[in-house]
Amino acid sequence: MTASPTIAAPRLEPGWADEVRALARRRDAVLLAHNYQLPEIQDVADHTGDSLALSRIAAESTASTIVFCGVHFMAETAKILAPDKTVLIPDAAAGCSLADSITVDQLRAWKSEHPGAVVVSYVNTTAAVKAETDICCTSSNAVEVVASVPAGKEVLFLPDQFLGAHVRRVLERENMHVWAGECHVHAGINGATLTAQAEANPEAELFVHPECGCATSALYLAGTGAVPADRVKILSTGGMLDAARESHASSVLVATEVGMLHQLRKAAPEIDFRAVNDRASCRYMKMITPEKLLRALREGRDEVHVDPELAARGRAAVQRMIEIGQPGGAE
Ligand code: 13P
Ligand code: SF4
Repeated sequence: MTASPTIAAPRLEPGWADEVRALARRRDAVLLAHNYQLPEIQDVADHTGDSLALSRIAAESTASTIVFCGVHFMAETAKILAPDKTVLIPDAAAGCSLADSITVDQLRAWKSEHPGAVVVSYVNTTAAVKAETDICCTSSNAVEVVASVPAGKEVLFLPDQFLGAHVRRVLERENMHVWAGECHVHAGINGATLTAQAEANPEAELFVHPECGCATSALYLAGTGAVPADRVKILSTGGMLDAARESHASSVLVATEVGMLHQLRKAAPEIDFRAVNDRASCRYMKMITPEKLLRALREGRDEVHVDPELAARGRAAVQRMIEIGQPGGAE
């Protein structure tokens, strides 16, 4: 296979990373970066990982300030878990199309149609939606979280339809209703593209994020034997890193946001990792630049605030999320 194009690195002042480190020390700040961040942000952070791993680190950190290099709901989740800490995000406008796909009013209306149902929300939701939620989950532990709900109870799962379909398929759970939301980046990684790439690279393993539009096609390829079942892996971004370290494959097709390739190539440099869709780049994640990280540390902005009453109502749901499932995904 030919190598995937790498993300073009912007020109940076020499020494910028040293300045970030010095400013972080002065602020007693821990720098967290999601696996979809620009490579240079991932490399300067104290911890790079998936949503679940970063939430756990935020909850346990002894630093007085958390600088969250990710999108806004992630920084909000850190603030809910660590209300006494200062939480900064280098650009508060870094949103998430998936979190925008359900409002709190829509959730309240849905709940009223299913009285007694247990609400399981993906962590990609606003603080207001979390306040109406029983248990949050991430892609790392969504199956375990839904499995923890007694079998006789209805489940309302939101907002991602592809992750929801994956959980329902794994657990064969009929009494689980799934909101029809999606992430525009992952929905754009479709089954036709994955199938064509798998056919062109018959030796490759497939690492597929469960938010992808192609997750069902990946399992279909495994089911028909077009790709041997043990080469098809539906994984969170942290799970992809664990799988990369254990893999003996020479090439892997990666169906998720392209920022993931940086950590994968560091974890297993001998493997040829290739994006299934090399245009699958989250413009929100890429709003966090080295310049904005420096500004955040110099000026103490953008500070993340969550209404204390909303935070108190959402905290139990987020705490259950970080307690369920195996740790993993962080450096
Ligand atoms: P994970 O890091 O939990 O795999 O989530 C991916 C994602 O899309 C975050 O926005
Ligand atoms: Fe949201 Fe999708 Fe971007 Fe993740 S990749 S932050 S789900 S828009």
